[in-house]
Amino acid sequence: MEKVEKFESTKKETQAPKALKAGNVEHVGKAGEKISAGKTERPEKEDGVYQERLARHLDELKWLYMELYGNQGFFEDLLKNLSRFYEERKPSLKKLDQAREQQPDWYRKNGMLGMMLYVDQFAGTLNGVRKKLEYIKRCGVNYVHLMPLLDTVEGRSDGGYAVADFRKVQEKLGTMEDLEKLAEECHEEGISLCLDFVMNHTSEDHEWAKRARAGEREYQDRYFFFDNYSVPAMYEKTVPQVFPTTAPGNFTWLPERQEFVMTTFYPYQWDLNYRNPVVFNEMVYNFLYLANQGIDVLRIDAVPYIWKQIGTNCRNLPQVHTIVRMMRMIGEIVCPGIVLLGEVVMEPDKVAPYFGTVEKPECHMLYNVTTMATTWHTVATRDARLLKRQMEIISGLPSSYTFLNYLRCHDDIGWGLDYPLLEDWGMLQVPHKKYLNDYFTGKWEGSVSRGELYNEDLVTGDARFCATTASMCGIEKAGFEGNEAAMEAAIQTDVMLHAYMLFLSGIPMLYSGDEIGQVNDYTYKEDPNKAPDSRYIHRGKFQWDLVDNIDLPQTVQGRLFARLAKLEELRAAEKVFDASAAFWTLETWDDAILGLVREKEDGKLVGLFNFSDEARIAWIDEKDGQYQDLLTGESIEASAVSVDGHGFYWLKRV
Ligand code: GLC
Repeated sequence: MEKVEKFESTKKETQAPKALKAGNVEHVGKAGEKISAGKTERPEKEDGVYQERLARHLDELKWLYMELYGNQGFFEDLLKNLSRFYEERKPSLKKLDQAREQQPDWYRKNGMLGMMLYVDQFAGTLNGVRKKLEYIKRCGVNYVHLMPLLDTVEGRSDGGYAVADFRKVQEKLGTMEDLEKLAEECHEEGISLCLDFVMNHTSEDHEWAKRARAGEREYQDRYFFFDNYSVPAMYEKTVPQVFPTTAPGNFTWLPERQEFVMTTFYPYQWDLNYRNPVVFNEMVYNFLYLANQGIDVLRIDAVPYIWKQIGTNCRNLPQVHTIVRMMRMIGEIVCPGIVLLGEVVMEPDKVAPYFGTVEKPECHMLYNVTTMATTWHTVATRDARLLKRQMEIISGLPSSYTFLNYLRCHDDIGWGLDYPLLEDWGMLQVPHKKYLNDYFTGKWEGSVSRGELYNEDLVTGDARFCATTASMCGIEKAGFEGNEAAMEAAIQTDVMLHAYMLFLSGIPMLYSGDEIGQVNDYTYKEDPNKAPDSRYIHRGKFQWDLVDNIDLPQTVQGRLFARLAKLEELRAAEKVFDASAAFWTLETWDDAILGLVREKEDGKLVGLFNFSDEARIAWIDEKDGQYQDLLTGESIEASAVSVDGHGFYWLKRV
């Protein structure tokens, strides 16, 4: 481990801030009060279990903590509170923890299918979601990511990623009790819940930020405050911008304080200073508090950004990994049923290290971001070579690494592709990005996609892209034009992409609305709080009226839903879809067709996915047995297989 500087206030005074004295820990009492208040199920001390888990990790935890903070007092405080959160954990959750410890692969089973949704857009409130669990089950989903739902201020919320209170649910969505109730009911139904843990920053409306703004030094030290621009200027030399158009720069001037505060994302999202052990301890307590509400998966938001160092790009620094490793151990000590899902929107060589090593793991799961962007590049180019290359890299990783695969999510698509390789193939970065954006905004002749640019940088010409899966596949255009042939082609593309996504190594994640082909929602432009942020184009209200069509086979929804449901059923039934299955690529000798193989025990499945809109031949020749089309049951020879335009095969060896 690299030697790191100890925490130093960004202010000049040398006197130790009050909050840096061990024992000055807020919030912890709150969790204790809440769980013990009126609840009869306070567990007996299962000291043995806890002590055994602690003993397993104590040396390493202490070593890493001391390396970052060098403060025994704070470490003791941390330990005291870990045991407290353990005691406060409900017996039902402790039972789940133990069961999951026995079956650590629980989240990697072939039956796992995720869906992400906005509580308000989907069902109004948390209680509303509870009433819609039947629908969620009907979608075959058993893992629900509830988009940010903690307290935030309208208009300064970044879709909920600017948290004003980590222990309060947004009033319009319900209460912490509602969340707990939803988690309980989900558990009864075999559904896991995922929640975001926004750890890089708080909202400027968080109590710490308010007190910092009011001039309290100990709270200013939880952020990065500077009374002149000299240090910010040093950072700006090397730190890129996340939102170059909507929130340029990495610092915000606070006129009433005559000071700058670090704000990597929006100006109202103040970066937390993890050099301060109070910040680490307090954020761990917030994490454990949420875990104790019954959350199963914690999505650690924007994690690469949490450690800042002048002269670097402030991304993926070694200390970030130290912190994530500590969080992993803390989870395994207090609430081992919890899965850490890292959000690392970076190139693959930056992503994989967040799994840690097999002996010292960090995140359980990571988003397969590059594959998502590369998938859409493949749709636009009909050239699957880059995707194949990426699949080869993934197949070389340890099988314990679990990726979360998705086609679309709540964020934009950044064209973070492997340009050195693309350039070898004649696709230069700047014109290629322009091509992708022109293609998906529908400017390119022959494109059926519809959508909008995101954070277009007028200086560099760089831009990202936003739209729903259905709109990108042509469902919006075909619907608008009333063109039935185009609609069938669009549905076919959409289904093929899902079939491919479900085939990948890892856990598939649906974006709510995609199962009914929901298209872009342009109404965000009417809301001044949302209008500048085109990501809202794919965060529209869930259209329950379209759900009425899912049983009508002639409708768009009926066709799409049934075909996706069939794929999901097959996936849940076949062991070969387990995350532990071997996975590799298959040469098809046609660049438009991606060939993949999954194998587990004696089961083998060949996937062929045609990204071109015309029929092509996959020049494969699998001589190891008879194959059957898993969808139709038809026997087929896995040799020179003709695949329809935007068609696919899941071929099972029989
Ligand atoms: C993550 C979220 C994104 C948000 C950002 C800042 O990347 O996915 O929506 O804007 O973090 O919290």
